[in-house]
Amino acid sequence: MSLVFETFKTCAIEIDTLLKNPSTDYLASQNSSGDMQLKIDVQADKLIEQKLLAIESIKGVCSEEKQEAVYKADSNARLLVAYDPLDGSSLVDSNLSIGTIFGIYDEVLESRALVASGYIVYGPRLEIVLAHKQVEHWRYCAGAWHALGTLQLKSKGKINAPGGTQQHWTPRHKALIDSFFAQGYRLRYSGGMVPDLHQILIKGGGLFSYPATQDAPEGKLRKLFEVFPFAFVYECAGGEAIDGTKRLLELDVKHIHDSTPCFFGSSEEIARVRDTYNALENHTRI
Ligand code: AHG
Repeated sequence: MSLVFETFKTCAIEIDTLLKNPSTDYLASQNSSGDMQLKIDVQADKLIEQKLLAIESIKGVCSEEKQEAVYKADSNARLLVAYDPLDGSSLVDSNLSIGTIFGIYDEVLESRALVASGYIVYGPRLEIVLAHKQVEHWRYCAGAWHALGTLQLKSKGKINAPGGTQQHWTPRHKALIDSFFAQGYRLRYSGGMVPDLHQILIKGGGLFSYPATQDAPEGKLRKLFEVFPFAFVYECAGGEAIDGTKRLLELDVKHIHDSTPCFFGSSEEIARVRDTYNALENHTRI
């Protein structure tokens, strides 16, 4: 486990260097989820894959940029790593913060098999957050990683980060989001889940939501590469992560690119989401 964490620390430094390269040419190809791929997505994907597959305890990898998982031949190793090499890469040209997200799974790519996770934030500073029992926060400075301590959510925060096209929100979801603003919550949404969720963790609480909508009935964010790893981070930090009614880390996976509606936050915000969505149980979610 610690070797995988150390490998992502090395990847962070190398990808951060790649990002400082001014070339952000688009490739004439799309990733398996239909998004336009940036050249840097491909470079980051290959860089991470090569480093992970060189680790003896890793049996295989899968990423948002690959159609299928890649397994080592004749390996008795147990660990599988699912990762999004460059989440929010469409924000690169706007020079906003972006990230890498990863989850470490034991033998199978299922929510219940997730044993550790983490993410890298490429912003004004280079940081990594590693979750395994507790949530460690590290910053790269003057050629070395420095431990900043552990992250812990309070029971309630002040940030509201609502994703998805508002035009396609259900009236109930809109009422839920509005109810937080009516109580003084502040809008903080960059369009990159890594900086948006990181900010809530750093400030100690709040709500990030990406609901089911008419144009995206299963949400947008992918279970294995984005949703489960962050659910693990939030639960380790004392928060909660649900799809509206169910715990995200109990959801099934039918295909590696499955997505799901998702809500991450501190306990009081998530309790209100659950109350709202439970009241919808006998109705359609969208
Ligand atoms: P992409 O990697 O294509 O830029 O997508 C980013 C993801 C995620 O990081 C973010 O929370 C979400 O898409 C934002 O989606 P909306 O723009 O639909 O809110």
